[in-house]
Amino acid sequence: STVPAATRWLDPDASGLAEAAALLRAGGLVAFPTETVYGLGADATDAAAVARIFAAKERPRFNPLISHLAAVRAALAEGVFDAQARRLAEAFWPGPLTLVVPARPGTAICDLARAGLPSVALRVPAHPVAQALLADVGRPVAAPSANRSGRVSPTRAAHVLDDLAGRIAAVLDGGDTPVGVESTVVACLGGVPRLLRPGGVTRAALRDVLGLDPAAPDDADPGRPAAPGMLASHYAPRARVRLDARSVTADEAVLLFGEGRPSGHEQACAVRNLSPAADLAEAAARLFGALRDLDASGAATIAVAPIPSEGLGEAIRDRLARAAAPR
Ligand code: TXA
Ligand code: MG
Repeated sequence: STVPAATRWLDPDASGLAEAAALLRAGGLVAFPTETVYGLGADATDAAAVARIFAAKERPRFNPLISHLAAVRAALAEGVFDAQARRLAEAFWPGPLTLVVPARPGTAICDLARAGLPSVALRVPAHPVAQALLADVGRPVAAPSANRSGRVSPTRAAHVLDDLAGRIAAVLDGGDTPVGVESTVVACLGGVPRLLRPGGVTRAALRDVLGLDPAAPDDADPGRPAAPGMLASHYAPRARVRLDARSVTADEAVLLFGEGRPSGHEQACAVRNLSPAADLAEAAARLFGALRDLDASGAATIAVAPIPSEGLGEAIRDRLARAAAPR
């Protein structure tokens, strides 16, 4: 059976990788590290395996998933890449970028992984454990973030088990994920590429490669849905989240950035600083773990100090805005 009695915790050594690859090829679910967050992987060519992802996550809808491949050449073969898409793939793969392109006619990536869309989301992750696993599996691996639907994305193996223990076959432990926010999602479906989700590749880096600003998502066209990652309430801890807090009350937990201190911070019931040195890359890497920690403090509200919106700040603020959205 592919329904696990207990979730295996695997080290990413030769035997752990071989076991994880075998489980995936047999239709099982395996969580694995990428440089952004942990993904919940299934064989993207096997609709029954992909269906198990939605069941394990309790995802209410069949959102389209990202298919991951080890080699840039193999990823290019699954879609139809225009000049801009090819430029982005060359510049940022392997790495924290997902490209949505028209699916190659006859692609083996199943309809369910693409939610029936004519497009496909493709990513070549750079993390060495993801690289080794995907190379061994030898097929595209569909993987959303390895959390229960609507919860904070996991940046370490223990987070995955907090949400999914007993529901998945195994987790490959690759330590903390270095980027910490999900991949940037760009759709290249004709015309100016659209930034569907800010993430590990900054808007400025996209602009440098494209020679122009990426366009906003086109919410009006049902054939080209904005990424459901753009749903308002998402990435939600249990606690309420309050943004751009300039003061803190005694029953609140507080998330700091840099040296700024909201008034009353010394009475907060729990404190994390995303980056005392105000380094946005460090802050992104720590974001989801800090939210989980502050949530565990039992505080009813997490007050978040102001965070700049440039560079990786755009993705950090995007995730925090979703965590703060009405549920
Ligand atoms: O960093 C990441 O991107 C992680 C790691 C595991 O790769 N994955 C991840 O997957 O965040 P998920 O399922 O949480 O987010 C995938 C995003 C969603 O917002 C989804 O709507 C969008 O990609 N997407 C996938 N296929 C699409 C398509 N054909 N058209 C538009 N958006 C698509
Ligand atoms: Mg997710």
